[in-house]
Amino acid sequence: SSESESLTWRGVSLNSLKSSKSPNWSPAVCPKESHTVLVKVPLKSIPEPYPDRPVDVWDKDHVRMPCSLHSLSPISKTELRKRWELINAAYSKPITSSHQLEAAIHSYNTKYAQRWNFESLHFFFSKTLEEEESDYFFAQVLPQIIKLALSLPEIVTGAIPLLRKHKTHSITLSQKQIASLLANAFLCTFPRRNTAKSLSEYSSFPDINFNRLFSAVGRQDNIQEKLKCLINYFRRVCSKCPDGLVTFSRHYVPSNQLPVWNKSKAELPLLHVTSDGTIEDQGSGMLQLDFANKYIGGGVLGRGCVQEEIRFIICPELIVARLFTECLDDTEALIITGVERYNLYSGYGSTFTWTGNVVDRTPRDQYGRKSCALIAIDAFNFQRAMKQYSPHCINRELNKAYAGFSWGSNSNSGSRSGSSGSRCVATGNWGCGAFGGDVQLKALLQLMVAAHTNNNVAYFTLIDSPMTRQLADMHQFLVEARVTVGSLWRLLGEYEGTIDAEEVDLFTYVYSAVSRNQVAQAEKLDIETS
Ligand code: AR6
Repeated sequence: SSESESLTWRGVSLNSLKSSKSPNWSPAVCPKESHTVLVKVPLKSIPEPYPDRPVDVWDKDHVRMPCSLHSLSPISKTELRKRWELINAAYSKPITSSHQLEAAIHSYNTKYAQRWNFESLHFFFSKTLEEEESDYFFAQVLPQIIKLALSLPEIVTGAIPLLRKHKTHSITLSQKQIASLLANAFLCTFPRRNTAKSLSEYSSFPDINFNRLFSAVGRQDNIQEKLKCLINYFRRVCSKCPDGLVTFSRHYVPSNQLPVWNKSKAELPLLHVTSDGTIEDQGSGMLQLDFANKYIGGGVLGRGCVQEEIRFIICPELIVARLFTECLDDTEALIITGVERYNLYSGYGSTFTWTGNVVDRTPRDQYGRKSCALIAIDAFNFQRAMKQYSPHCINRELNKAYAGFSWGSNSNSGSRSGSSGSRCVATGNWGCGAFGGDVQLKALLQLMVAAHTNNNVAYFTLIDSPMTRQLADMHQFLVEARVTVGSLWRLLGEYEGTIDAEEVDLFTYVYSAVSRNQVAQAEKLDIETS
């Protein structure tokens, strides 16, 4: 009917997928070997830093802090000074313009003074903002940012471990601690994080100091909008810092704990698919996907402005993950619980625009974390290689999604999903924009992993309404045929070999392959019973 043609969604309703109680996929805030908690427990209503007396750890397993007594900076060819003293000196007088700010930042980053031009920062305060807005920033906001940054030794008293490759570990910080760390990133104070990637101790980490954002040249509309988001965030946290916590968890799945996909008897989960809304707006109470880069946050501090970067800039607390998260390997995910949203936006990519401040009404859990869980998983970048249908690549994407979707759950590997206690993943065209993946393949792979980990799926196609119908139809067909994850895996593995001869898209192939199998099975049954 024409009514069903105009429906923007298919499958089960979104509300039926939302769990009534707050989902418990995130670890309790309870310090242990695998969980570093940088605030005192039992929690106070306003979190206090842990431990009472600051520790100064300066080694390869912890974030090298700008306030460490071991952090030395060259001030001439022959002379070194304590970095923190230089930083404090740089802000001993008021800063009233972006050029003064640049000079201050250069004074403790002398090696880079030639290379950093801060063009986009100057443009921001001279052209993008009205004069009164700029004046307000330098009179009211910047002094607070500086104060927050310089209070780092009192706000973050413990050592922040690095979330290293192949180690499952969580870190819980207060929003205040995150604000202080980000204020330091804004002032580009973190040592050893500016060197050319290949030469540095931190070559396998994303960058954290904001200099790249300040220095971008050429077309810079995105960057100007990103700066508005960040300034709004700092304005908010400086006037009244939220009292909540955020947990960052790196999840590593060793190869002997990966599912044997071929053998999975799980059947497809419940699905809601819609061309309305976005993961961040509609995904409350669900595990929300971040279509990530292996360097978490991707180009958020540069020109990048697609799903991941937008999420990070509207919820800037996410950016602090770049400080301590080593780039993700194939069977790893980063799960972030509790971030708050500060910014509204419109547009995407080059049309991205900050449209204002927002008060995030998401409830908090018993530990003061916003009930918002993000799963960062990086798809394979198929821009160059068109190998995505090979069993190797299929397994890579399944295992990557598994590292994310299995966080905090018990794998079902066989029981019927859609049952009570199921959780829901809010996702969409993961890996199919910047990374060039096939939407049909990625949707099926995500459904398979969701099935195997007992998650239902809310799938946001954005404006791609044909995909809404196509995916809903395919899903219904597979459910009715009672196709298991294992049998779908075997079918997908055979698609690659047919591409040259048949030139059909993946869904067309799956329809005919499943039907062919059913006929074959029926005939086999016939023979056995006759
Ligand atoms: N909600 C739902 N779907 C969305 C949303 C949203 N808010 N935003 C975009 N999409 P992309 P990738 C859809 O290109 O291919 C970043 O730089 C939209 O259809 O962001 O995995 C990362 O740091 C879009 O085309 O993800 C990585 O470096 C599709 O999702 C790289 O991009 C894919 O979004 C990852 O690229």
